[in-house]
Amino acid sequence: MNAPLIPRSILLAALCLISAADALAAEPAVDKQPVRVLIAYYSRTGNTKQVAEGVAVGVKRIAGAVAIVKSVEDVSKRDLEAADAIVLGCPTYFSNIPGKMKVAIDDWNWKMKVDMTDKVGGAFSTGSGQVGGKEHVVISLLLFMINNRMVVAGPLYQDAEGDDKWAESGASAMTGPLDPGVDKKELDGAYRLGERMARLAKKLHAR
Ligand SMILES: Cc1cc2nc3c(=O)[nH]c(=O)nc-3n(C[C@H](O)[C@H](O)[C@H](O)COP(=O)(O)O)c2cc1C
Repeated sequence: MNAPLIPRSILLAALCLISAADALAAEPAVDKQPVRVLIAYYSRTGNTKQVAEGVAVGVKRIAGAVAIVKSVEDVSKRDLEAADAIVLGCPTYFSNIPGKMKVAIDDWNWKMKVDMTDKVGGAFSTGSGQVGGKEHVVISLLLFMINNRMVVAGPLYQDAEGDDKWAESGASAMTGPLDPGVDKKELDGAYRLGERMARLAKKLHAR
């Protein structure tokens, strides 16, 4: 018995479908989950919160990264475990980390038992004085992260020609009373910190 005649166009369409299915099967699965940058801050009068929001702006400039901004006291174990990068920020109190901030972050390890290994980390601080201890606070936050096995970095800069490039230890703002508060240049440092965190999180943790 003769086989029924199948029109050429139907045969071609079937062949196309088969090769498309093959191509899909061969393609490695592309997971488009964004990397998560958690920005955890302590702020009593709003200055540090303003810088935290600046860091979030920088994170959002990088495709494939999302920013989660939370007061440090509201951060849960789940927030920490889901984060690919953690950025910590607080005011300077007596040239040091405010007690409430320190208690909160100590608990992440001590009580919550969060494993922070290889999460990307960065820090920022505000203070009323020019040399009031802001950088000491930034470094103390970074040391906390290094101790918790995180990979730390700061914002990147370059001159107009791109010849000279450098990094800083974190972002900061001078807030008064002899100062107008968080200004454009200080916010630019916050944006840069957010961008760096998001880029590094993508390099280390892209899924
Ligand atoms: C108890 C206390 C101690 C402070 N000690 C310092 C200090 O040592 N150096 C400094 O530059 N500012 C100091 N400040 C000022 C705060 O760091 C500054 O106002 C900060 O921007 C407040 O942040 P916030 O608005 O996010 O709460 C101190 C403020 C308080 C309340």
